Amino acid sequence: MSINKLHDFSWPSGFLWGSATAAAQIEGAAHLDGKEDSIWDAFARVPNAIAGGDHLEVAVDHYHRYTEDVGIMKNLGLDSYRFSTSWARVVPGGGSVNAKGLDFYSRLVDELLEANILPWLTLYHWDLPQALEERGGWAHRDTAYRFVEYAQAVHGVLGDRVTHWTTFNEPLCSSLIGYAAGEHAPGRREPRAALAAMHHQHLAHGLATSELRGLGVEKIGITLNLTNAVPNDPNDPVDLDAARRIDALWNRMYLDPILRGSYPADLLEDVKEYGLAELIKPGDLAAIHQPIDFLGVNHYHDDSVSGHPVSAQAAPAVVPTNSPKSSPFVGSEHVSFPARDLPLTAMGWEVNPAGLRTLLNRLKADYSNLPPLYITENGAAYEDTVEADGSVADNERAAYILDHIGAVAEAIEDGVDVRGYFVWSLLDNFEWAWGYAKRFGIVRVDYDTQERTIKDSGLAYGKLIAASRTLA
Ligand code: NOJ
Repeated sequence: MSINKLHDFSWPSGFLWGSATAAAQIEGAAHLDGKEDSIWDAFARVPNAIAGGDHLEVAVDHYHRYTEDVGIMKNLGLDSYRFSTSWARVVPGGGSVNAKGLDFYSRLVDELLEANILPWLTLYHWDLPQALEERGGWAHRDTAYRFVEYAQAVHGVLGDRVTHWTTFNEPLCSSLIGYAAGEHAPGRREPRAALAAMHHQHLAHGLATSELRGLGVEKIGITLNLTNAVPNDPNDPVDLDAARRIDALWNRMYLDPILRGSYPADLLEDVKEYGLAELIKPGDLAAIHQPIDFLGVNHYHDDSVSGHPVSAQAAPAVVPTNSPKSSPFVGSEHVSFPARDLPLTAMGWEVNPAGLRTLLNRLKADYSNLPPLYITENGAAYEDTVEADGSVADNERAAYILDHIGAVAEAIEDGVDVRGYFVWSLLDNFEWAWGYAKRFGIVRVDYDTQERTIKDSGLAYGKLIAASRTLA
């Protein structure tokens, strides 16, 4: 969609414009005011786990600079801010509640409300207290019950002011990449544990959803990262089957239990040697299958999938990634992800906005009880060049964001109920196994001085938001 058409697009009334971050990636203060290690603090101490030996001790110091950061959101004209609370700050050792930790979020929420920005809270964005990992982490069923207690603690302090609650962010990453591929904390390479982690996170989502509902919360949902698995050759049954398997593992393993109350039959068959079926206790699926008020969709790229092995020559280097391509389930000897003729971001991810439109239409077509959708993350890493005057002409990021918003507009025209868009990310930040090397921010952070500068992508996003209001 052209920029002019995008500026003239008539967005559904109440459409939310926002930006997203996560506690571990921005807060810093990793051991301040009672916060203890999360699995990411511990993982950062493992040699070579994080690019450049980076850690989360200071990050972008949002813990101390949140008022400035809320000011930037206000300048950009955001309606909403999606952030996460850190379990390791709120319930540091996995036991008693840390009032000082909760107080930080209380101050942040007050600041947001004062600026007329809707707080959109996520309870789990990957930072399990290390103390709980030492008791088995997500592979241990008990962690699901501890999650409910943590949700209650957060609700106890913020429930009077926060209306929109998300249980989990991208459970695919915190189960498969953390427990099977080993590229994310806690760095385990145990396929059975990874499926257990996935199931227990689903259970935790369901139990916390009904608990929060009982406490009177009206808007509860979950955020999934969804990736179209595109058969490399749509006429090759081998590629079609590989794409089906990847789709089951990356998309339907999350969508189906939550929206339909069952795991896909083909998935259960595909992973039967890893014991998923045996983990499911009577009542689990009913507990997981709670009505939700929205589904958060994180989308960055598609992947082309082939069932033919990649030739040794063409095999891509193993690099940390936010897609579990190296997890054992995909059967690396049978599945490959051939490069396509598309531009790539600095993460090596394809740029293909049409994929987002396809994905949103597919969700509408496949799930009859689909709740309203929000794009809870979309954005891109590129190398920034800082001009002499301090400005950042990040045209590629600006184009990526506007083109994907265009794809959302087209999906809305197609009849998909999308009610908001949150750009990832407000600030440059700690990009997990990549450390600070990959910048996703629409606001540049100078990591030496912590100075913040709105990039051209941020200015373009702000302009679009302003244009959407003029028409409303
Ligand atoms: C997904 C995650 O939720 C977020 O934490 C991450 O930084 C972005 N995608 C980019 O990889």
